[in-house]
Amino acid sequence: MAIGVFDSGVGGLTIHRTLVERLPHADFIYLGDQANIPYGGRSGEEIVELTRAGCERLFDAGCSLVVLACNTASGVALRRLQQTWLPDYRKALGRPVNVLGIIVPTIEAATGLPWEHEAERRGEKVEKLDVLAVFCTPATARSRVYEIEIDKRRQDVAVFSEPCPNIVPLIESGAGAAELAKEVEGHVKAISTRIGRPPDRAILGCTHYEIIADLFRAALPPGTPLIHQPGATADALIRYLERHPEYEAGTGGLRRFLTTGRPGAQHELVEAFWGGPLSFEQA
Ligand code: DGL
Repeated sequence: MAIGVFDSGVGGLTIHRTLVERLPHADFIYLGDQANIPYGGRSGEEIVELTRAGCERLFDAGCSLVVLACNTASGVALRRLQQTWLPDYRKALGRPVNVLGIIVPTIEAATGLPWEHEAERRGEKVEKLDVLAVFCTPATARSRVYEIEIDKRRQDVAVFSEPCPNIVPLIESGAGAAELAKEVEGHVKAISTRIGRPPDRAILGCTHYEIIADLFRAALPPGTPLIHQPGATADALIRYLERHPEYEAGTGGLRRFLTTGRPGAQHELVEAFWGGPLSFEQA
């Protein structure tokens, strides 16, 4: 059995790359839904259906676990799929399968608290408000997943999401650093105006933003900590596999890359996300 990694395109390779580095012997199959990217401007129903189809494709290919390496799919579709589709699908398949997202690990890294601590902090006196900015796609911002889930754990963290509708299309179309820097600066300014001051910390809550993290660093006040989503996801997956030996991750170091888009070699964008070119099979 292998670990599946799903994203709306190739941005999830930023997460995948770290998973592969941290679990070098595990078998991995990556699926990029390049025929349907971007998810960030789609409706909730569309995102749920596309994410379900992607997971099913990865389970068919021999995966036991699927990591949604996409904030939009994790924020909008994961809970729905876990509650409505997965239980019956698992029964029909007759073997353990599960789907995990990247938002919970990111929130754990941002709050320093696992889920179990949810209620403990309620009622505690708030001494100093820690303001966290989440830069993300419009669909992730609309889901309010970061606000809702962080608020369950930490009353002393205020979360502000900033939807950035143009950044993914700009990166996908090969925009240059100057154009992207202007877009990022505009969003940092907008969210700082909304908050009344710059944020204390930030989450780059979209796979694509990892490759322009330096532009966010330059636009935010010097030294603003950025929560590292690939590292947080790898830590969480390793802990999950230790606790759940029923999900075999394999030992052969398999690396397969599937796409719903055009199969074959992919360069520029893939190099930015993965660090080198890759060859994709038709999903
Ligand atoms: N992978 C998506 C995310 O992390 C960004 C690309 C898209 O909009 O599909 O939200």
